Amino acid sequence: MFRSTNFSFKKGLERTFPIGDIIGLNAYPRHTAKLFKEFYKHADDCYLRIYRELQHSIDQLIGDCEEPKLIINFDKISMTIIARAMANLFVGEELCKDDEIVKVFATFATTLIRVKKLSSIAYLIHPRLQTKYIKLVFKYGDNSPQKHKDLLTKKLKPIFEKRYQDMQQFGNEWKRPDDLIQLLLEYSIDLFGKIHYDCIACHMLMLVWASIHTTSENLLNTLNDYAGRSEYWNDLRKEQEVTTDGLDFDLTMDRMEKLDSFVKESNRLIGHISKYDSLIAIDAGCYLLRFQLYSLFLSPNTLNYWFIASSNAPSHCAMCPSFTFSNGYQVPKGRLVLMNNLAHMSNSSLHGDNPETFSGFRHVSKSPFARVGRDSMAFGLGKHACPGRWLASRNIKMAMSILIRKYEISTLDGKRPKYPIKRGFSAIGPLPLTFKKRK
Ligand code: HEM
Repeated sequence: MFRSTNFSFKKGLERTFPIGDIIGLNAYPRHTAKLFKEFYKHADDCYLRIYRELQHSIDQLIGDCEEPKLIINFDKISMTIIARAMANLFVGEELCKDDEIVKVFATFATTLIRVKKLSSIAYLIHPRLQTKYIKLVFKYGDNSPQKHKDLLTKKLKPIFEKRYQDMQQFGNEWKRPDDLIQLLLEYSIDLFGKIHYDCIACHMLMLVWASIHTTSENLLNTLNDYAGRSEYWNDLRKEQEVTTDGLDFDLTMDRMEKLDSFVKESNRLIGHISKYDSLIAIDAGCYLLRFQLYSLFLSPNTLNYWFIASSNAPSHCAMCPSFTFSNGYQVPKGRLVLMNNLAHMSNSSLHGDNPETFSGFRHVSKSPFARVGRDSMAFGLGKHACPGRWLASRNIKMAMSILIRKYEISTLDGKRPKYPIKRGFSAIGPLPLTFKKRK
């Protein structure tokens, strides 16, 4: 499904949430993934900058913690830490310090997701009502993409005009800034012969949507695992002391094999897959609910859609007239398909012994978190696999590395409670955590 051209993730996303329409990106050639890949080829030098940004945010938002400090909502802190780091990469050193920009980066995706969940109810009445509802909410709400685009344009204009002048004045002598806005500026000039602010802002919002809540949710989940699993503290701390000793930065990050494995394991068992069996009921049955809703004239397709859209799970859309899987399952065109994550997670031939149990170092000396394969599909697979996976993995590990070295972090009772289950998925959320400066 991930590798086949018979299924499209983009189409699946657009069906459950018309993000291209909402942002306005569909008015332009959509090259977000391609542009990001191009940018990332030369992004190696940016990591030290991102690291400093992470360090600064952690100092500012968590503080010294000479006395133990209880943080209830680490989700908000995690979002801001990641938003600032990404802002540094996307809009550059200068603008990433701008509070308004950081706020848009940090809150844009979460607001969209909240609206997405509500909008799936509108779909049950009529599919077109969903898009109308979303557009209406964003037209008048505080979080309208148009407002964000106007803000981005206002802030980018003076920087772009200066860069454009410098490019023309100095030609090859000009030192090209290595942030994403520079690439978007050049892309816009190539495509339109001028700086097209709306097109640039649309691509930027699409990247903000794809990168920040995904990365910060993973960071939150990994930190919850770390805080509630004290048996790993010694090994992970020791690895920090050994690997940071006198090596250059890139090498240091690559040597943190235990941390990489811990992050990967945390992601493998990430909350929203644990009760997937009740979602499988979508295709296998769920007869009672269907029967009840049939009486309200809802088709099974509509119901399938509603489960998928309201659960926020990534789905693929079948593009060919009819597709038959190797086990005989047939999928008609237009149907949304989800991977059976529960079966994947509990497959011992892929993950080793006791695959349902958390084992933080099970991936040591095997493939790293960001490498996709049959045992690791959090970032998709094949040519459409997430282009931001190496960046996401690095960001999570850098933030974890700073947190592990700086603080003793624990849950209130030293245990790792399970997340609450909502519609078949367990919802990742903040646990109350105590931070105390390490001696
Ligand atoms: C832990 C964090 C992240 C997770 C779990 C994640 C997950 C995914 C998944 C599952 C896909 C779909 C792949 C497919 O089609 O099969 C995807 C696509 C994408 N991701 Fe990520 N992602 C993360 C972080 C990022 C970051 C940091 C960026 C960029 C800065 C990013 C940019 C994108 C883009 C542009 C696409 C669309 C790719 C395409 O359509 O070709 N993601 N991501």
